[in-house]
Amino acid sequence: MKNPGHFLMFLGCPGSGKTHFCHALMNDIKKSDKVVYKRMWNESQFVSKVKESFDQSGTAEQAIEFLCDDDLIIFDDLGSTGFVSSSDWKRTILLQFVDNRYTRKKPTVITSNFTEKEILEKLGERIHSRLFDKDNTILSFGEVDWRQSDKS
Ligand SMILES: Nc1ncnc2c1ncn2[C@@H]1O[C@H](COP(=O)(O)OP(=O)(O)OP(=O)(O)O)[C@@H](O)[C@H]1O
Ligand SMILES: [Mg+2]
Repeated sequence: MKNPGHFLMFLGCPGSGKTHFCHALMNDIKKSDKVVYKRMWNESQFVSKVKESFDQSGTAEQAIEFLCDDDLIIFDDLGSTGFVSSSDWKRTILLQFVDNRYTRKKPTVITSNFTEKEILEKLGERIHSRLFDKDNTILSFGEVDWRQSDKS
């Protein structure tokens, strides 16, 4: 939050603690001048919201605008529903979301089971370029599965 213009990417295998981290972050960030409105969704909720706002507003631009205006957005499980891989149109929606946050320098946290290479291959160069801007924070915990580890 000290560098609000940058994305925070958390990449990791199932069970590596991505959702756990997102909930902790939501609880930890108290209302301040910088963060009044914060929202967290996973990809499947994002898809439902896009459909809902499409029905209400009718255009992709208005739907994305409605979804992008929070001070902090946490997007959990990027790539988990196959939403973006399934059509160019859906990839465009995701690119508009990413580009909107990126251009307006709004703090955005994104988690994914994908590696950086898979994001490039599956989601395309334009999304990859913005998500992996050299000033972004990239956390990668590919090897630890807390569901399988002995926590005692
Ligand atoms: N740092 C941690 N210390 C102890 N337990 C943890 C830690 N991080 C996560 N856990 C626990 O491990 C389990 C899996 O974590 P979580 O659901 O966050 O994984 P995930 O990376 O979101 O997995 P998936 O990709 O399948 O959604 C949860 O029960 C969570 O409470
Ligand atoms: Mg999760």
